Amino acid sequence: MKIISQYIDKNKNNYINELKEFLKIPSISTDPAHKKDIKKCAHFVKTKLQDAGLNNVKVIKTEGHPLIYGEWLKAKGKPTVLIYGHYDVQPVDPIELWDTPPFEPTIKSNKIFARGATDDKGQVYMHIKSVEAYLETVGSLPVNVKFIIEGEEEVGSESLEKFISKNKSLLKCDAVLISDTALYDVGTPTLTYGLRGLCYMEVEVIGPQKDLHSGTFGGAVDNPINVLAEMISKLKDKNGKITIPNFYDDVMTLTKKERENFKKLKFSDKKFAKEVGVKQLHGEKGYTTLERLWARPTLGCNGIIGGFIGDGAKTVLPSKVKAKISMRLVPNQDPLKISKLFEKHIKTLTPNTVKVNIKHLHGANPAIIPLEDKPTIAASKAMEKAFGKKIVFMREGGSVPIVPVFAKQLNAPVVLMGLGLNTENLHSPNEHFNLTHFQLGIKCSAYFFDEFAK
Ligand code: BES
Ligand code: MN
Ligand code: MN
Repeated sequence: MKIISQYIDKNKNNYINELKEFLKIPSISTDPAHKKDIKKCAHFVKTKLQDAGLNNVKVIKTEGHPLIYGEWLKAKGKPTVLIYGHYDVQPVDPIELWDTPPFEPTIKSNKIFARGATDDKGQVYMHIKSVEAYLETVGSLPVNVKFIIEGEEEVGSESLEKFISKNKSLLKCDAVLISDTALYDVGTPTLTYGLRGLCYMEVEVIGPQKDLHSGTFGGAVDNPINVLAEMISKLKDKNGKITIPNFYDDVMTLTKKERENFKKLKFSDKKFAKEVGVKQLHGEKGYTTLERLWARPTLGCNGIIGGFIGDGAKTVLPSKVKAKISMRLVPNQDPLKISKLFEKHIKTLTPNTVKVNIKHLHGANPAIIPLEDKPTIAASKAMEKAFGKKIVFMREGGSVPIVPVFAKQLNAPVVLMGLGLNTENLHSPNEHFNLTHFQLGIKCSAYFFDEFAK
């Protein structure tokens, strides 16, 4: 292991320079205008997997964005690790809030700033470089390795889900290794053992057939924006509980043990509030902040489109309004079942003065990973070795939709060995990745192969 670790140290600057090239490609998956960039990015990944020494590397076309596959299967009798990550990134708006352009990677105070730096290009690149380090020094890996890198994670992973169900033998493995989550804190080796799921809805409220003069008609014709606002406000009660009937039916209750473990983690509500820039935190009564974030479902409005939003004033009674409303789910809630409960409840809240259209945009299942899983044990040893500190286990409020799909379809345990930080502005302006964690992540990946082979 020593020569691998030395090799990784020696190549630090090369890794950063290569990562910059990866980050320069604006692979925004949700925006059709960036389709060419997505393609370019897929080919970039392909080349890097080939350069690292992987075999059978290919870009796989899908109905959506391409996947990249690669393998190294020469460790006879040894287990196989499937490495997953995503090369697509979120949009950059609001662009004026970036200190440096999102696709011109810039290094400041040992952090690399660019869209996708921590989510997920920087983290994907760690594994490519750890494989390369093995093949360049030892000439072989202690385990078999397969890569599957996708370009649709930020839009729900539909194509990959289809691909997995049709290519189970190609992807057959003993563990799925994923770095697309966060460390608990700077310099703290962490494994994530839970992810929330998601149920994303769109509600349209339609009133008069066209916009009306609010003086001539206001007071006699209901205003769709007022109606929608009232409906949204009824979705939660004053204790922060979601009011949709049967919503909590399948929620896994927190065990006493887990609550104790959460409490042992260093956490300050005050510091957290300050970091996000709010005066005071808010949430479901009877739960701590970490419990609210990791183990309790939420419902929130992500955006409202409607009415007059230009400068100045316009006296209008708008014809329609639309709201994006999403719910973060926890084990064992089912996004499809929740979407139906949501729809039913919205209908009962709709007054006779308006029409309502409800769409289920997408969903993701929540995930929970047993701490006794072999790959999780190997990963905790690997991380402790790389960081020289004791491992911390956490759950995560965000979602990685493909995680439960891997677990179910491939019947393989998943390890969430993320090296990001929740303070690294993922999905926000000034996204960045800590370069010390980047370097440590390459070693964590290398040590994992070694530990898992044992
Ligand atoms: N890597 C994130 C998930 C994540 C967020 C992990 C924060 C750890 C900390 C992933 O790329 C993501 O953004 N997922 C989306 C999924 C959605 C688009 C279906 C999410 O959670 O909103
Ligand atoms: Mn991600
Ligand atoms: Mn993301």
